[in-house]
Amino acid sequence: MRVLVSGGVGFIGSHTVVALIEAGHEPVIVDNLSNSDESVVGRIGEITGHVPEFHKADVRDVESMTELAGAGIDACIHFAALKAVGESVADPMKYYDNNVGGTIALLSALESAGVTRLVFSSSATVYGDPEKLPLTESMPIGVATNPYGWTKIMMEQVLRDLHVANEEWSIPILRYFNPVGAHPSGMIGEDPQGIPNNLMPYVAKVAAGELDHVRVFGADYPTPDGTGVRDYIHVVDLAVGHIRALDVHSDDPGVHVYNLGTGRGHSVLELIKAYEEASGRKIPYEIVERRPGDVAASFADVQKAYSDLGWSTEFGLADMCAHSWKWVSGAPR
Ligand code: NAD
Ligand code: WQD
Repeated sequence: MRVLVSGGVGFIGSHTVVALIEAGHEPVIVDNLSNSDESVVGRIGEITGHVPEFHKADVRDVESMTELAGAGIDACIHFAALKAVGESVADPMKYYDNNVGGTIALLSALESAGVTRLVFSSSATVYGDPEKLPLTESMPIGVATNPYGWTKIMMEQVLRDLHVANEEWSIPILRYFNPVGAHPSGMIGEDPQGIPNNLMPYVAKVAAGELDHVRVFGADYPTPDGTGVRDYIHVVDLAVGHIRALDVHSDDPGVHVYNLGTGRGHSVLELIKAYEEASGRKIPYEIVERRPGDVAASFADVQKAYSDLGWSTEFGLADMCAHSWKWVSGAPR
């Protein structure tokens, strides 16, 4: 299939483009490079032996999207979004405009070009504060604690309404848990600008000596060691999940929701220890106050993705840390 990949230069998008090429699909990337660098396109070419088609454009530009979608596109994987939780609190309009506005513009362009297959990047954040663990897809959507989270809840609703109005749409909605790691080659990975918000990129910068120490946000949660527990998933496993969802549901109209995680949680302290082992570096940390809006624990029930998509994860926490370290310690800067 010829697959339009919005946000395909970014962290998860670039790994998915590699997986698409490896699975014999033809990705066409569209990205405005607001949070990524064009050099990634060449590095995808080095990994796969095929430099993907790339268009620098904004998904809110309906005219450009309609032109792109009309050029033989069979399906779209929609990653393009802003994702910094703190920034979304400070500048909510930017997030509603880019994420919700961008999704609406892209969907109308796809529909007018007759493309009715879309894989959507959602997030475990839509569950809010979980009442019960593990989280299953049938649990109700919760209350988001920030505008970023609300954009994901709103976009999921837009997609459900779209399918009610036009039943031809096939829309796998993939709810990612905590994507981390990097390509095992060390050629592509996550490259956050400034001080990272998320745990693993922060830990990586401490290991690399760029930051002093990790601040552990709370050690008084009702978890085995008191620190927050999350379901970290290797970005390559996550990428493969998109290919499975695309293949399984390509001629299967409907809205299909899947959790993508490993099904097991790790604490902040476990992750720090695993990264120390992977990097061979001491990672100093300090316990500080809880971060507002954080939940104690979150991990997925992944049975549905296993039974419907035949998908399960291959990589564990040690691989996630080892591949992240390979990327961070050798990354071109
Ligand atoms: P990323 O920032 O690395 O990638 C997003 C890409 O989209 C970037 O290359 C950016 O330049 C591009 N982009 C943003 N707005 C655009 C626009 N209007 N037009 C064109 N391109 C645009 O982020 P990521 O971690 O790869 O996340 C990809 C998707 O997965 C996002 O939708 C994100 O919300 C979702 N997600 C991410 C996580 C995570 O922890 N990384 C977790 C759950 C869900
Ligand atoms: C993980 C754990 C922190 C940083 C966020 C978004 C979510 C999704 C994924 C996109 C928590 C602790 C963190 C640090 C720490 N993104 N921590 N010190 O909060 O689970 O999810 O990213 O959809 O929407 O909210 O991930 O990596 O920020 O935190 O102690 O410097 O690490 O308290 O327990 P989170 P995270």
